[in-house]
Amino acid sequence: MRPRKPPADAAVVMADVGVTLGTARRPVPVLNGVDLVLPRGEVLALLGPNGAGKTTTIRVLTTQLRHQRGQVTVAGVDPLRHPARVRRHIGVAGQQVSLDKRQTGLENLVMLGRLSGLGRRAAHDRAHGLLDEFDLGVASERLVETYSGGMGRRLDLAAALIGRPQVLFLDEPTTGLDPRSRTSLWEVIRRIVAEGSSVFLTTQYLEEADQLASRVALVDGGRVVAEGTPVDLKRRVGQARLEFTLATGPDAVRAAEALDVVPAAELGTEIDREGAGLTVTLPTDGSVSHVRWVLERLEHSGVAPVSWAMPEPTLDDVFLSLTGHLARPLDAVDASAEPEEMAS
Ligand SMILES: Nc1ncnc2c1ncn2[C@@H]1O[C@H](COP(=O)(O)OP(=O)(O)O)[C@@H](O)[C@H]1O
Ligand SMILES: [Mg+2]
Repeated sequence: MRPRKPPADAAVVMADVGVTLGTARRPVPVLNGVDLVLPRGEVLALLGPNGAGKTTTIRVLTTQLRHQRGQVTVAGVDPLRHPARVRRHIGVAGQQVSLDKRQTGLENLVMLGRLSGLGRRAAHDRAHGLLDEFDLGVASERLVETYSGGMGRRLDLAAALIGRPQVLFLDEPTTGLDPRSRTSLWEVIRRIVAEGSSVFLTTQYLEEADQLASRVALVDGGRVVAEGTPVDLKRRVGQARLEFTLATGPDAVRAAEALDVVPAAELGTEIDREGAGLTVTLPTDGSVSHVRWVLERLEHSGVAPVSWAMPEPTLDDVFLSLTGHLARPLDAVDASAEPEEMAS
């Protein structure tokens, strides 16, 4: 898959990038010709399951790993030829909190500020500014080892921003966080983008890509299997559906017969239950004539649905139809989430 010619000032360009790891006797091809563009000032989400090659892609872009095939530029610079120059333009935050846990949040940020070339006074000002911005002001004098998971991730993000990077790389920034911490981290990321940074993030969460990214690249097996705006991707593969909710099991059976479709799976167990909550779903091309035909069939059958809708396809539908499996196994959703306790 070849994207359009990238804009000259793109934050990240990858063209036919290949990486093989492992040993000479047992080579493991990890990236198999990755093509990607992150336009300046936008958010690109690399969405894919475990083992898809997301972290490897981040390592290539952040000068931690040399690719063997293809071309890469980050902030207009080739990381193979000028790794130090690339590092001056980027910030990186990973899945693991990478800070010194035996120091306070403030000490960590001041040290990183000094390392990035700020003077004493400027490093302190920058550290305090970031701690306030990320809601860590009250915790600034506490050792990082007392921080909760969400606080640690926010500090890690603040650390990545110390040097005012043009391009920010976030490797699964919210994996393992509870929903509340995730939402607050999304807010922070949105603010960073509003201030002009370009963000390259990886995620296993379809909702995260949908919420944050202007462009999404679906990765599987070291390849980009689809790329575009969330709306584009949904439109490309998502089959529209009509969904009817019926008041009772017998109503649902009659509606299904009238529409000559199989009722939703839960019907079997819910057929005797009282109240609403029974659905009948059928594919549609979304045209007025098809929707009218379906509604007329229902009306003739004498069944009145409680409600009906034509829901938009989700990125889940897209991923499933392109790869034959989900980006994240259903039973694994949030299995890794740790409850957020405010250690204090
Ligand atoms: N050093 C390595 N040697 C051999 N295989 C590796 C190495 N690092 C990663 N891999 C393999 O490459 C694939 C992609 O890994 P990774 O980029 O970490 O995926 P993701 O971050 O999407 O979960 C995985 O199958 C992983 O086992
Ligand atoms: Mg990874």
